[in-house]
Formats: sequence, C-alpha cells, structure tokens
Amino acid sequence: MQLLSAKKTAVPERSCERNHSLLRRTFSQNSLRLPTNAQIRSSIYTDRLWVEAGEFDREKHLLTIQVRESYVGESFVLLTDEFVRSLQLLCADFTRIVELGAGVGWLGHWLGKYGIRMLTSIDNKTWPDFPQSRYLDIVQQMDSLEYLRLHPEVDLFILAWPQEDDLASRIWQALRPGQHLLYIGEEKGGCTADNIFFELILGHEVEHNGTRNMRESFLSFDDFHDQPHLYQKA
Ligand SMILES: C[S@@+](CC[C@H](N)C(=O)[O-])C[C@H]1O[C@@H](n2cnc3c(N)ncnc32)[C@H](O)[C@@H]1O
Repeated sequence: MQLLSAKKTAVPERSCERNHSLLRRTFSQNSLRLPTNAQIRSSIYTDRLWVEAGEFDREKHLLTIQVRESYVGESFVLLTDEFVRSLQLLCADFTRIVELGAGVGWLGHWLGKYGIRMLTSIDNKTWPDFPQSRYLDIVQQMDSLEYLRLHPEVDLFILAWPQEDDLASRIWQALRPGQHLLYIGEEKGGCTADNIFFELILGHEVEHNGTRNMRESFLSFDDFHDQPHLYQKA
C-alpha cells in the first residue's frame, strides 16, 4: 500500500474529532507534556490491541480512523510521553542531532520541549498534504541529501516515515562511517522506504542506552506497523 493512499480513508470527519484532546495536546505549541500511552489507548485503538483483547468497539474504531486522518496532517509518528522520554536517554549520548524529512516538525518540537537539543529539522517542504503555513519555524527548507553532504559533524540523523522512493537508501549510502540513523517506519514491503534500504541496513542495527525503552514504549496507529530502529554505518 502506498504511503499517500494508506492514510486516505473515506470516513467523514466531524469537527469534534478534529479538535480531539489528543490532537490539541500534541499539536499545540503551548502544551507542556504529550499524552501518555494509557491516555492514548483509552481513546483510540493502537497496535491492533483490540484483537488480543477480544474487544471491538465500532465507535472507538471509527474515532481511531478519524483522529489518524487529522493526525497525519501534522505528524506520521504517534507522539507519546513515554516514547519521547525514551529518546531523552538515547539522545544523551549524541551531541549533534538532526532530523531529515522532518515534515511539519512536531517530533523536533517535542524533543526540544523534553530538553533534547537538535541542531535543526530539515524538510524540502514538498509533501502535498502539509500546507506551507503549517511548518513550524524550526523546520529549515532544504534537501536532505544536500544537508547530509554539507554536515559531516552530525552524529545522529533521525528519519521518520520516509516515502517509498529511494531517499532513505540514498541517505543511508551518504552517511559517513560511525554516523547513526534513527529510522522510524515500517518493515520491508510496508509503506515507508524502498526495498533496497532494508537490504542496506541489514546487520547494522545497534543497541544503545534507551533503544529497548524506545521499542517498548512506541505506539503505532491501529493497522500500521511502524517501529523505531537505530542503525550505525560501519
Ligand atoms: C511522509 S512525510 C513524513 C514527515 C515526518 N517525518 C513525519 O513523520 O510526520 C515525508 C516528508 O519527507 C519530505 N521529503 C521528501 N523528500 C525530501 C528530500 N529529498 N529532502 C527533504 N525532505 C524530503 C516531505 O516533504 C515530507 O514532509
């Protein structure tokens, strides 16, 4: 399934869902803390847990789809208090951190709120569903590969939900030995990155302070399969 069509579901959007507290708390610059996993799970389905629980509530299912429709106009990563706190631990070991293909910039915004200083967030601002006015000020308009070429000093790049084109592969190929890539996306055959990327990163996943927490705390929207992975270029 393609990334753009994956999020297009013909469900009528009502204003109350567009204004749902999860969305308000996550996408407001004045908000101080992200919703917790428990708060998110109490409102919407994540990770197909309703299958395990043997529970299916149609209203909750519809709300999940509607909230996600609005959410992906701002961020593809489901941002939670636990996940960003796990990144505090991970990022403490890196001094020069940059997000590539950052989209609107909310991940960088929240990392900053939780005390993680990134050098910048880069996006070429071509994603059709993000109006230009939506990008946060921290997002610098630039091509990811161009940024990478000019900045050998960066020790950790973050790349979340890259499209299924060759950008993720080219980013990996352009990394210098020793540099790390925190990839948040689906596995091979999913709706992020191309197949070559998954061949290139084979054998390069590394464990670090925080990576276990990061995996355990990460939530995906129901029916999506993104996960965070840390890779290091040899
Ligand atoms: C599916 S969106 C994901 C955005 C964000 N990472 C998130 O998780 O919400 C892919 C993003 O990559 C950006 N992009 C695509 N090609 C790029 C390039 N060559 N350099 C910088 N940004 C790029 C698009 O503008 C878009 O914002």
